[in-house]
Amino acid sequence: MSRDYRNSTSQQGFYILAFSRIAEVQIILFILVLLMYLLSMVGNLVLSGLVCISPQLHTPMYFLLCNLSFQDIIYVSAILPKLLAITITGDTWISFSGCITQMFMFVFCLDTEFFMLTTMAYDRYVAICIPLRYTLVMNKKVCCLMASSCWVVGGLNAMMHSILMSNLSFCDSQEINHFFCEIKTMLNLSSSDTSKIILLIFIEGVFIGCFPFVLIMTSYIFIISTILKIRTSSRRQKTFSSCSSHLTIVMLLYGTSLGFYMKSDSENSQEQDKVLSLLYIAVVPMLNPLVYSLRNKVVLRAMRKVFKHADYQ
Ligand SMILES: *[C@@H]1O[C@H](CO)[C@@H](O)[C@H](O)[C@H]1NC(C)=O
Repeated sequence: MSRDYRNSTSQQGFYILAFSRIAEVQIILFILVLLMYLLSMVGNLVLSGLVCISPQLHTPMYFLLCNLSFQDIIYVSAILPKLLAITITGDTWISFSGCITQMFMFVFCLDTEFFMLTTMAYDRYVAICIPLRYTLVMNKKVCCLMASSCWVVGGLNAMMHSILMSNLSFCDSQEINHFFCEIKTMLNLSSSDTSKIILLIFIEGVFIGCFPFVLIMTSYIFIISTILKIRTSSRRQKTFSSCSSHLTIVMLLYGTSLGFYMKSDSENSQEQDKVLSLLYIAVVPMLNPLVYSLRNKVVLRAMRKVFKHADYQ
């Protein structure tokens, strides 16, 4: 019997294998993922709330950071609750449209994160290398424009992915050997020609991975050469600390995602693949607010002020 896959889309779906089916592992995994999910939600919500209520954090850098937190919340919420549900109920089924939605959110957030980090690097470049023109260059309008273009470009690219992906045909009820609808894993399951998407992934690698990376590195070359020219070591330290949190996050994100895409596609690498993905889906969004709050004196001071204020009431 020949099946028209496109027509049966409403009932079509996949089984997400997630991690090992051993009961003990499931429980540990559930607790771990739940903790990471809660920590990233709480951390990012607290950080965004803090930026909103603290006047001393009303600067472009912290508004962009707020955007990053917001994006992290969407990111983890698109993937981790489903993983938690799969782990606890054992029901691994996901509908085709659910899968495409998950993929859309994943690409959207990842793209936005890369663009946002690039924008933040530019912000640091202006603040450190041409400080006298900072308020002029990074004015409200420019800042909003930059932030919204990150979201819009990320959204358009994610939409392109979803459209191409939903036009592929899949046999019904296949197993996805991953913990979410990951693109590469899905492509291997499709019976249609995937060359267009593979080309798109390559182009994205250049425009969303390499190009922002080069821009970020260029900013940091200027930033570091400016910092080295500062005479007094206390001022040098102070200047560096204003960009060290950002630099840490850039290294975290690029380290994990480059590691993921560079490593060879060997047979038994699928398990490694999943662990690495979990690293940048669950761990990086969890660390972002931590890095920014623990290593950043301005945020710490704002936090202390808020808590002190709460004490008085
Ligand atoms: C994102 O950044 C823009 C520009 O600084 C700011 O106006 C906006 O409030 C931010 N949005 C969120 C959700 O953080």
